[in-house]
Amino acid sequence: MLQVKKLVKSFDGFLAVNGAELTVGKGQIVAVIGPNGAGKTTLFNLITGHLVPSQGTIEFKERDITGLSPHKICHMGISRSFQLINIFPKLTVFENVQVSILSRKRKILNMFSPTKKMMVEETYRILGKVGLADKAHSLSTSLSYGDQKILEMAIALGNEPELLLLDEPTAGMSPEETASTIKLIKELASSEGLTILFTEHDLDVVFGIAEKIMVMQQGRTIAQGLPADIKSDKLVQAAYLGEEC
Ligand SMILES: Nc1ncnc2c1ncn2[C@@H]1O[C@H](COP(=O)(O)OP(=O)(O)OP(=O)(O)O)[C@@H](O)[C@H]1O
Ligand SMILES: [Mg+2]
Repeated sequence: MLQVKKLVKSFDGFLAVNGAELTVGKGQIVAVIGPNGAGKTTLFNLITGHLVPSQGTIEFKERDITGLSPHKICHMGISRSFQLINIFPKLTVFENVQVSILSRKRKILNMFSPTKKMMVEETYRILGKVGLADKAHSLSTSLSYGDQKILEMAIALGNEPELLLLDEPTAGMSPEETASTIKLIKELASSEGLTILFTEHDLDVVFGIAEKIMVMQQGRTIAQGLPADIKSDKLVQAAYLGEEC
């Protein structure tokens, strides 16, 4: 589904991503891990078109998407949530998701198609999936931090993606919120047939859900493979996991 080859991103000569390699198969849940500043978010920004690579290629479903605009990449079926929350603060939970669905369908709004009636069923279906239906008419900013992160995921789902990128989906969440988010990610992957790529610092979360792990250090991919192989990889242990494994 996704193939990243020899990807490089330079910021005025500083190589934030420096030869990243990543292969994601259809339906897989894949984690990208690595210390702060390893280049994980930059890699996500390159995949979604928010940044243009300096070198290398990105293929999505065997099509070269390197350097395409975020808008084009989104319409091809890649959605994301951000490391920092990115929702419309003045809209309700319901409206946030509805806007995302409308934008995918490129509906032209006019007086004969009142916005409020459009995509109601689909919006509720998504809110139901993520467990926010009972908060549909709350202002998005009135949600708890954890629920705002879930809302971001719901907004991303409004685009009906095939590949969903989640940048630190459980960061800042309570242990209970983290546990339910892990459950949700697993459920979404199976019920929606989604392929999921996520970054995460909490290794319990990573080893709890990832079917494959890619490890970055200083912009480079130092390993990728099955969780068991990553755990026993000497290079990974030395570089990142320390004594923990
Ligand atoms: N727009 C930018 N201009 C200059 N340097 C940048 C820019 N964006 C990121 N960097 C640098 O690139 C490196 C990689 O940053 P990035 O945010 O991708 O790391 P990360 O692995 O996501 O870290 P974290 O785990 O803290 O989220 C860092 O040293 C960062 O300071
Ligand atoms: Mg980051």
